[in-house]
Amino acid sequence: MNKIAGYIEENRERFLEELFDLIRIPSVSAKSEHKEDMFRAAEYLRKSIMDAGAYKAEVYPTAGHPILYGEKMIDPSLPTVLVYGHYDVQPAEPFELWNSEPFEPVVKDGKIWARGADDDKGQLFMHVKAFELMERTGLLNCNVKFMIEGEEEIGSVNLEKFCQDHTEMLKADVILVSDTTMIEKDIPSITTGLRGLAYMEVEITGPDRDLHSGLYGGAVANPCNMLAKMIASLTDENNKITIPGFYDDVLIASDEERAEMAKRPFDEKDYKASIDVNALAGEEGYTTHERLGIRPALDINGIWGGYIDKGAKTILPSQAFAKISMRLVPDQNSEKIAKLFEKHFISIAPAGVKVKVESLHGGQAYVSPIDTIEYLAASKAMEESFGKKPIPVRSGGSIPIISTFEKVLGIKSILLGFGLDADAIHSPNENYPLFNFYKGIETIPLFYKHYADMKK
Ligand code: BES
Ligand code: MN
Ligand code: MN
Repeated sequence: MNKIAGYIEENRERFLEELFDLIRIPSVSAKSEHKEDMFRAAEYLRKSIMDAGAYKAEVYPTAGHPILYGEKMIDPSLPTVLVYGHYDVQPAEPFELWNSEPFEPVVKDGKIWARGADDDKGQLFMHVKAFELMERTGLLNCNVKFMIEGEEEIGSVNLEKFCQDHTEMLKADVILVSDTTMIEKDIPSITTGLRGLAYMEVEITGPDRDLHSGLYGGAVANPCNMLAKMIASLTDENNKITIPGFYDDVLIASDEERAEMAKRPFDEKDYKASIDVNALAGEEGYTTHERLGIRPALDINGIWGGYIDKGAKTILPSQAFAKISMRLVPDQNSEKIAKLFEKHFISIAPAGVKVKVESLHGGQAYVSPIDTIEYLAASKAMEESFGKKPIPVRSGGSIPIISTFEKVLGIKSILLGFGLDADAIHSPNENYPLFNFYKGIETIPLFYKHYADMKK
């Protein structure tokens, strides 16, 4: 057995127990009642990284949740890998849909079940353990830095400033991130693109109070009706977004690129079955993976207003609300799109209602080239551990801070993710297969090995 497999074998159970202790801290960034938990999670990771062999690790408070930074600089002439991850998780609600406690991890059917099991505690912890492994087995051949934040799920609000304030400390040759998916557990892939995001909240106000829907209905503009109409008009019959100027900066993929994308294995029947729908829908003229990877999308994330409790209440509501996100692609600019949205949404408001539009957060799309040493090292690492060359894939998801890293630090990221679509991240019953967890710990040291070799 080689050193990597041997070390993993000997420490399998401990790795898992340590991950479980991290998962047990309910570090939900969106909720203020978890403020203390955010510190506990950052502190837990600080200790983990120190125990694994870092020379220093520190929890940096921010205006929001703390950032953990740690490093082991072994030789300035060696390449430096900066690991990024996030210890914050999405809220676990609705609790009643979980088959086990969200913050009490269990192993069942070969998977870890818990909030954060994959996104991103399970995935980031692979890096902590891979670092420990390299450290203990004498394989460490690069300088390592860790930057782990607690606000990814709420838009990484304080990380850009942290980067600006610490450009020297964060100097590195590459940023390595495990916070994405691969195609299947036996079809490795590397994420070469992330979509950007513009996240909006809208508020429609009609009369100054809820009215009797018999006495007023039909004579006064109903904010819920109006909101429904306005939102419906944001896409046309071909599912194209109707906001003027929205597509102006969208880079059109070449035929070659599209032909390359079409080669990726995809079973539409399985895909539909996996989410229990009988048909797929999206922009006319594009395949499912084009719709996800190279085309923007507009979705309502939540919509509310009026009476939503049990039974019937005959009212004409005073207000209606929606949260609307737009997934963006290169070269769309998130702030520009947010402004276009706001201007357009206000312009389509019918008489009799007032409209308020707020931009909650956003970020730019990211693309990673596939002809760099960094990509090739990742590709070789996966090929070695999976026995198959990984496929480059443009993901539909977003990690807005990745493009900010490029802008502020001038460093490209490699998105070496080991999650699966089936892991139900952000959903009830989030899970992460043990196979993927250990495969990640096995693959990461191989990345360092090939990367250091290729940088020579
Ligand atoms: N890890 C995900 C993003 C992801 C998952 C990318 C799978 C590709 C494949 C990340 O934690 C996330 O959920 N990002 C948010 C964006 C954020 C600004 C709330 C997202 O994509 O909704
Ligand atoms: Mn994530
Ligand atoms: Mn997430």
